[in-house]
Amino acid sequence: MRKWIVAGNWKMNNTLAESIALAKAIKEGSSGLQGGAIVLAPPFTALAAVGETIKGSNVSLCAQNIYCEDKGAFTGEISPVMLKDVGCTYVIIGHSERRKYFHEGDNDVNLKVKKAISAGLTPIMCVGETEEERVKGITQDVISRQINQGLKDVEKIECIVIAYEPVWAIGTGKVATTAQAQEVHAFIRGILKDKFGSNAANNVCILYGGSVTKDNIGDLISMDDIDGALVGGASLKTDGFLGIIKKISGKK
Ligand code: 13P
Repeated sequence: MRKWIVAGNWKMNNTLAESIALAKAIKEGSSGLQGGAIVLAPPFTALAAVGETIKGSNVSLCAQNIYCEDKGAFTGEISPVMLKDVGCTYVIIGHSERRKYFHEGDNDVNLKVKKAISAGLTPIMCVGETEEERVKGITQDVISRQINQGLKDVEKIECIVIAYEPVWAIGTGKVATTAQAQEVHAFIRGILKDKFGSNAANNVCILYGGSVTKDNIGDLISMDDIDGALVGGASLKTDGFLGIIKKISGKK
C-alpha cells in the first residue's frame, strides 16, 4: 500500500502572519489523520515560522524550489542545507511555473533532484504537458522526456515523489478528467517500472495537480495510480484544503 500525500503549494502568496495562521488551522484541523502525509509549501520568507508552527505535528514542511549547491556566491538562491536548517523535509522541483517563467530545463531539474536526494530531502518532481502539446498528441513524449531526463543518473526512487500537473489545468479551473489523469499516471508508473523495477515503481507516490478542489478530488483519488494531490489555489483557504485532505485520507 502506498501512502497518500496532500501537498499545498502556496506559490507567491501569504504574509508571515497569514502563513502562520493558515498553518496553525491546517495543523489543528488535520490532527489525528494517519496513513499519509500532509505537506505545506509556503514562500521562503515564511518557511522558518511555519516550521515552528507545525513542529511535533503530522504536517511536513516543503520548499518551492532549491539550488544545487550547498553554499557560496549564488545571489538570491537557497541551498538544501538552509532548507533542512529550517525543518524542510520536502522540496518541489521543476514546477511548470519555474520552467515557464524562469526558464528551468530538464537538466536543471535533474541537478536539483539529485542534490535534494543527496541532502536527504524528498523531491516532488513536477511534470506536465501544455495544452498545445496535448492537442498535438505528444503528451506521452513530453512526459517521458521530463521523467527520463529529470531522473537521469538517479539510482533509487524510494525517496522521490512525482507530481503530474497538466499545464492547461493549473489555475484555470479546467481539471483533467479522471481518465486523462489516470492514463498519464499509469504511463509514468510504467516508465518507472522499466527504469527501476516493479517493486520500486509500485511504491512511488504520484500526485495529481491542476485545479484540484474538495469537490473534484473524490473521483480523481479513486483512480488506481493517483496517490494524492499537489494543490495550488485551494490550499490557501483552510476549509478548501482540509476538505481535500479529508477526502483523500478517507479514500486511500
Ligand atoms: P492550482 O491548484 O491553483 O490549479 O495550482 C496547481 C499547482 O500548480 C500546484 O503546484
